[in-house]
Formats: sequence, structure tokens, C-alpha cells
Amino acid sequence: MTEDLVLPAPREAATDAPGEPLLEVAGLVKHFPVKGGFPIRRTVGQVQAVDGIDLTVHVGESFGLVGESGCGKSTTGRLITKLLEPTGGRIAYRGKDITHATRRQLAPIRSEIQMIFQDPYSSLNPRQTVGKIISGPMEINRIEPEGGREKRVRELLEIVGLNPEHYNRFPHEFSGGQRQRIGVARALSLDPKLIVADEPVSALDVSIQAQVVNLLQKVQQELGIAFLFIAHDLAVVRHFVVRHFSQRVAVMYLGKVIEVGDRDSIYTRPRHPYTHALLSAVPEVNVGAEDDEEVPQRERIRLAGDVPSPISPPSGCRFRTRCWKAEDKCAAEEPPLIQLSGNHAGHLTACHFPEEPTIEARDEDIVLDPALAALEEDADD
Ligand SMILES: Nc1ncnc2c1ncn2[C@@H]1O[C@H](COP(=O)(O)OP(=O)(O)OP(=O)(O)O)[C@@H](O)[C@H]1O
Ligand code: SF4
Ligand SMILES: [Mg+2]
Repeated sequence: MTEDLVLPAPREAATDAPGEPLLEVAGLVKHFPVKGGFPIRRTVGQVQAVDGIDLTVHVGESFGLVGESGCGKSTTGRLITKLLEPTGGRIAYRGKDITHATRRQLAPIRSEIQMIFQDPYSSLNPRQTVGKIISGPMEINRIEPEGGREKRVRELLEIVGLNPEHYNRFPHEFSGGQRQRIGVARALSLDPKLIVADEPVSALDVSIQAQVVNLLQKVQQELGIAFLFIAHDLAVVRHFVVRHFSQRVAVMYLGKVIEVGDRDSIYTRPRHPYTHALLSAVPEVNVGAEDDEEVPQRERIRLAGDVPSPISPPSGCRFRTRCWKAEDKCAAEEPPLIQLSGNHAGHLTACHFPEEPTIEARDEDIVLDPALAALEEDADD
């Protein structure tokens, strides 16, 4: 499908001014081959992990990318940080096409795009001191800050709320939340312009999650760093990403972005049934974030069925097998991601029937998902 896409030309190099596009992704595709057959293994199919997505992250912006497990969020993050080579589409950074840039061509911008990983346990080398871990990227990039690397590491430890005296300690001497702070300090060591944070708090205790999100928010606001915050854990999506952290949010389903808009319109006026279900599914849990007074009361829709296989996604709208509004047109035609009519600047939805309320789910669609039931029990305790 990507051959037919006419991709918009990247704009002239962006400046550092807030609001300028920093990262522009158009028609991005990543398919992983599925091998099968014996004795000769052949490609028998493709996992359509990311299948033609468009995104723009602006200078200094916090952008949330959310969706259920397996919908392609991490693959998107890895494509953007150039850990994976795309199958199609284009990635532009500051107006420069970096889709197929070589290591050498990427060198000048490598340091500007950093990643924070989900698991603060496995992403830190247990045999290195904190000082060594945080100064690692400076060493690799041969960067010698004024006053030396050790001074810079101590400053970074302070910025992330750790004791600079702990420079010589090892990761096992820190708690999970503190280790994630070390990961944040490492990501900051090269003065990045964009941080891709892939589920940065999902591995942490609920009580610690808010502290780490607050730190990321502080970093984003005070240092003007743009964030792509990836999340699938429903409580994290709803409480942190949509309510508190992100200025804009994109919702993914089965390799596609199905809705994007500023956080208030996504939260209070979701137009895609999937977004509605996603945001309706979690009870309010007090996890230390600020109030949720204005939370609209919603019916809790629990989606029936599993996510279809990304090897053979449904025709037309990929959500149709779980959608309570589906009609014949939904199987025949893929709904494009388009701006809603009326006063909805920047709110785009990929649904044939976005104007009708998504609120009314049929009884048979409201099924109890065991994972969500457990969440609700926790919340009631
Ligand atoms: N290297 C790979 N080879 C084959 N398939 C892959 C590979 N990496 C990811 N996939 C598949 O691509 C799809 C998207 O995976 P991805 O990890 O991007 O999802 P995700 O949205 O990050 O999920 P989660 O929320 O669980 O982290 C999944 O079906 C996954 O199994
Ligand atoms: S296009 Fe059809 S199936 Fe897809 S979300 Fe909209 S109503 Fe549901
Ligand atoms: Mg992931």
C-alpha cells in the first residue's frame, strides 16, 4: 500500500523555536517477515507491526503514543531512534530526511535523540558505577563538557533528584525508581532535543510511577526537551499520559494511528470507538498524581475479543471486529485519518462514523476482561 503514498516534502530545517516540527514521520511502515516451511524456510507472511503512520512531534512538545500491547508502539519508537530500518515511509528530523541515513550521516544528530527504556533493571550495566553509566554516552561521542565529565555527571544526578555523592555506587544499591532516574540522567547527558520514553514507568510500583512522571515532566518543561511518551498500561495511559503529561496524544491500533489530537479533546471528546473504549476502561485510581476533578463520567466499555493478528489484519477498518458501531462500509473501505469537521482543529480520527456518539455500546460488547477486573479490585481496596 505504501507505493501509492505521496509523502509531503519535509519542511526546511526547523529552528529550536517551540512549535516548530522537530520530528516528522510520514507513511511509516515496518513489516517483519514470518518464516515457515521445512526443509527450506521461506517467508510465508509479514507481521504488519507498523503500517503507514503519520506523526509530528514539535520542538519541546510532550507527545503521548498509546494503545494496547502489540499495536506497534515500540516498533515505532525503535524506527524513530533508528534502531530499526523502516520498510517504507519517511522520517525527517529538523527537516532533514533520515529514513535511510547511514551511521556516519546520523552521527551529528545521534546525540539529539535519546531513548529511555521500560526496564530500569536490565537497561543498566550492573558492573558499572553510576558515574560510568551516565558518562558512557559522553565517552562514546567524545564529548568533554566544561569542567569535565565527572562534574557534569554530578550535576545530572542532582537534576534527576539523586545524591551526587552516589557517583561511585552500583545499580543494585538503588531502588527501581532511583534506577529509572539514573536512566533519565544518562539520556540527558548529551543534551538531547527528543527523548523517546518507551513505557518508562510500567515496571515501577504504582506509588513510584507518579514521582518518575513528575521528573520527566520537569525535564520536559525546564530543559525544553520534546518527549515521545509510549504507554499501554491503562492506568498509566489515563492518569499520566493523557491527563498530566502529554500535550498531544496519538492512539494506535494494530499498526495504525487511529486518532490524534490535543489531550483535552482526546480525553473529553474521543471520536473513535477504540479511543473511547481505551479511556473508559480504567477506574479512577489515586496514584499520587494531581486531582481528576473534571473527569467526565463514562460508561466503562470493555472490549470483547482479542486484538486480531497483525499478520492478517481485518479488511477495511482494522478495529471493525471489535467495534459496536461497525457497518458494511467498515469492512469494505479503510477509513482515512482525517480532521473532524467543525471546530476541532488538530483532532484527527480514522472512523467512517466519527460524528455519532461513541458512548452507546451494546450490552454484549460490555464484557469483563480479567485483567481489568483485577485492576478494579485493586482500586477498590
Ligand atoms: N523483531 C520482530 N520480529 C517479528 N515480529 C516483531 C518483532 N518486533 C515486534 N514484532 C511484532 O510486531 C508487533 C508490534 O510489536 P511492538 O513491540 O511494536 O508492540 P507494542 O505496541 O510496543 O506492544 P507492548 O505494549 O506490549 O510493548 C507485535 O505483533 C510483535 O509481535
Ligand atoms: S470505521 Fe467502522 S468499524 Fe472502524 S471504528 Fe469506525 S465505526 Fe467502528
Ligand atoms: Mg512495547
